Amino acid sequence: MAYREHIKKGFSKLLKEEKLKLIANYFENPGEVVKLLKSYWHSDSKQQELFDEFSENTITNFFIPYGISPNVTINGKNYIVPMVIEESSVVAAASAAAKFWGERGGFHAEVIDVRKVGQVHFGWSGDKAKLQELFPQIKERLLADTAGMTEKMVKRGGGILNMELLDFTDQIEDYYQIRVQFNTCDSMGANFINSALEQFGHSLQDFFAEQKDLPEELRKVEIIMTILSNNTPDCRVKVWVECPVKKMEGIDEHLSGAEYAKKFKKAVDIAHIDPYRATTHNKGIYNGIDAVVIATGNDFRAVEAAGHTYASRNGRYESLSSVTLDNDIFRFELEVPMALGTVGGLTSLHPLAKKSLELLGNPTASELMMVAATMGLANNFSAVRSLTTKGIQAGHMKMHLNNILNQLQATEEEKRKAREYFKDKTVSFDGVEKYLNSLKDK
Ligand code: MEV
Repeated sequence: MAYREHIKKGFSKLLKEEKLKLIANYFENPGEVVKLLKSYWHSDSKQQELFDEFSENTITNFFIPYGISPNVTINGKNYIVPMVIEESSVVAAASAAAKFWGERGGFHAEVIDVRKVGQVHFGWSGDKAKLQELFPQIKERLLADTAGMTEKMVKRGGGILNMELLDFTDQIEDYYQIRVQFNTCDSMGANFINSALEQFGHSLQDFFAEQKDLPEELRKVEIIMTILSNNTPDCRVKVWVECPVKKMEGIDEHLSGAEYAKKFKKAVDIAHIDPYRATTHNKGIYNGIDAVVIATGNDFRAVEAAGHTYASRNGRYESLSSVTLDNDIFRFELEVPMALGTVGGLTSLHPLAKKSLELLGNPTASELMMVAATMGLANNFSAVRSLTTKGIQAGHMKMHLNNILNQLQATEEEKRKAREYFKDKTVSFDGVEKYLNSLKDK
């Protein structure tokens, strides 16, 4: 078997079928692998072509469950929320929180701002005072040169909002930055921002080349790179739930509503002082956010990167959510940056992303920010509620039972019996294996 042998140049030029066969040779049983991977191809070849073209060297599709969290009330409006996630308990946890808060006024959400950032990183060896003096003219030039490009976005209410010159020469010799703020309306805007920034780079070079009163060596500017920033603290959404503490009665059978609310707050406060806990706490938030972001064809890496940077804004990595208990009102709030789109990119290309948006009522990007953040808070609430009461393993392992049964190749009848048997018992891999063996012995 040609195990891990170097693949010679030109792999990307091969036909899909050839790539698949070549890769299958890296497995014990190539024939079966080809069959298996092909079984995940879309039955409609036109649809499959679409997926093939999303990315380079596609040989098959990788399935992840597409689930629904029904009846999520946000600002008094009911949403049926699509969630794409492989972790067994996430949709169940989000739905449980949505039900709990649906009975207590629902989720409240507001978009704080939608400004996104792009950067032109450049080097210039002249006097910084001169650069500052030239900057108003530079700005004018950059805006004029991108006017054609931004016209449509301006008509839709967006465009370039603001541009500033930043001096980093005390840290890197001759290094400056032009930081630009954009409003990209309902599109995530990566292509729009990056195209404008690349034009800025060319225009900046042209501008300096034309400064005949500058010495020859200062008519050159080094464009190091131009790219959007995934740090989007000003593209931010806030979502919260609140209720009198007495309405938290019954969550913990040993504690009053007020006592439980205090315990819940303590658990969230811990995530404010300890980055080890904060990382897990925020991961639980992104369980919900990512699932919606993926279901709607948005970029979850960008959303997560921005969130983790925001979580570190006070100089230490902290919880993104917080609890207050003023006047016996429990308020649980999440504030996160989130650059999302509901038009353009994969949102309109991926057939299921399109359907997700339709199911959500074709929201604006701002509305989608509120929905995704809500599911983050919902998952966060359920996770902390489980952790501070019966622990997460009970619920988690119940959901995981199906995975264990599948792994152990249980028959339908065995699955049914096992689900019944483990209803009131702790689920573990060993426990399930023993139970299945006991069934076989019988
Ligand atoms: C598991 O995916 C997420 C949790 O660990 C989050 C948390 O600890 O808050 C349950």
